Amino acid sequence: MTQDRIIIFDTTLRDGEQSPGNSMNLEEKLLVADALDAMGVDIIEAGFAMASNGDFEAVHAIAKRIKHSVVCSLARAKVADIERAAEALKPAKQPRIHTFMSTSPIHLKYQFRMEEDEVLDLIASTVKLARKFTDNVEWSAMDATRTGIDYLCKAMETAIKAGATTVNVPDTVGYTVPDEYYTIISAIKNRVPNIDKAIISTHCQNDLGLATANSLAAVRAGARQIECTINGIGERAGNTALEEVVMAIHTRKDLYPFATNIKTDHIMRLSRLVTSVTGQQVQNNKAIVGANAFAHESGIHQDGVLKHAGTYEIMTPESVGLTRSNLVMGKHSGRHAFKDKIKDLGFELGDNALEEAFARFKDLADKKKDIYDEDIIALVDARTVSKSDPIQFSALKVVCGTIGEQTAELTLLINGKSQTVKVEGVGSVDATFKAIKTLVPHEAKLKLYQVHGVTQGTDAQAEVTVRLADDTRIINGHGSDTDTLVASAKAYIDALCRLQVARKDIEDIAT
Ligand code: KIV
Repeated sequence: MTQDRIIIFDTTLRDGEQSPGNSMNLEEKLLVADALDAMGVDIIEAGFAMASNGDFEAVHAIAKRIKHSVVCSLARAKVADIERAAEALKPAKQPRIHTFMSTSPIHLKYQFRMEEDEVLDLIASTVKLARKFTDNVEWSAMDATRTGIDYLCKAMETAIKAGATTVNVPDTVGYTVPDEYYTIISAIKNRVPNIDKAIISTHCQNDLGLATANSLAAVRAGARQIECTINGIGERAGNTALEEVVMAIHTRKDLYPFATNIKTDHIMRLSRLVTSVTGQQVQNNKAIVGANAFAHESGIHQDGVLKHAGTYEIMTPESVGLTRSNLVMGKHSGRHAFKDKIKDLGFELGDNALEEAFARFKDLADKKKDIYDEDIIALVDARTVSKSDPIQFSALKVVCGTIGEQTAELTLLINGKSQTVKVEGVGSVDATFKAIKTLVPHEAKLKLYQVHGVTQGTDAQAEVTVRLADDTRIINGHGSDTDTLVASAKAYIDALCRLQVARKDIEDIAT
């Protein structure tokens, strides 16, 4: 690796997923992994194979299909974890095992009850084991930034001697600040005798809002891999946001004379995709990908931008893949124009997927006169309701407002059999959800109900996320429609199908 290249290690599917409500199913993980690969991410951390069968299957399926990126699985410093990661990664063209162990006094004393010397032995043996399966092994010193520098350097040296090709310096609890992190990375670079045999990596949590600044300080001190996630999702306050570090490097070449492999014009698509599958909207003023990131409101700014965009824009919206919200198509647009539009927006769809998206476009065009780029992106990214889902939305009639009762009359196809119910509620959403619960009794609890307008205007498509939880899982369901209540019903049904809480009840009802 040349010294002027920064490796982008994306952990959206592992650390990003590791926070409440961010869990993704296999189908969604594959969508995200494909998009990360197409964007040019160097390494995709696909999951933590030992964590569950679902994680194992996701790592395995991603390893099987990814063409360009290295595919990585996390593993604790345990034999079974490392073997499981290796097994999941078997089909990968370029596998990486990422193993880790805490090094800070507080973790060793209270969590692991181990002495420093014992930990050094464990690092050596687990890294050596991982090297038996692949020559691409990353070792992380969990809670590195609260570890004494002498011991941290010794741990790094041990890992590299045992065969680690990347050594990661996680700020696990988001505690460090840029000056301090710069000093830590510089010390590792200058004091670890075999550091020339490994790449130094950063992994920063955002508890103090400093993850991006810390990652960039590490790069200036000699780190050449940045671990990050799309939209900065992750544990607690999240991780370094991929879009922020990549665009900082891209925009400030004078300070960061480095290249990344990222096709920056894919950034908006990835951001929207991750928003859509997790249901976690980014705030309007989020750097790079927020709705206001390129909006100029004040008269002075608008005047400047009209005269020369560079007066107030440090990067162009196009450079991150933001197409101006231009009117694109309507109900008379044909298949050919649709196909060209899809290509312009950066999607590569197979014939079947294209046909399905075109059918959804035609349905939408029947209801909505003006169709914008955002509508088309939402159509393509939307999970297609599988015909094999046991519960299918059929029809909804809602009475709402201040006069009389608020009711929902809902028809569902449950295992192919049409069933209708009419219920009252405290408002139309409550009535709709109660109607679903009446037709499909279940114990799952509603944890989130979120509505997002894809574009502006009263005829905009609503994208709805419904989060349901049972005793063991939290699942997001999604639905979109020009009618917010229909989108809400679809999202609830989608979540129910995923949770499969209703399967037995459905069989009972249908017989
Ligand atoms: O935050 C952390 O320390 C981690 C490591 C496993 C890299 O996620």
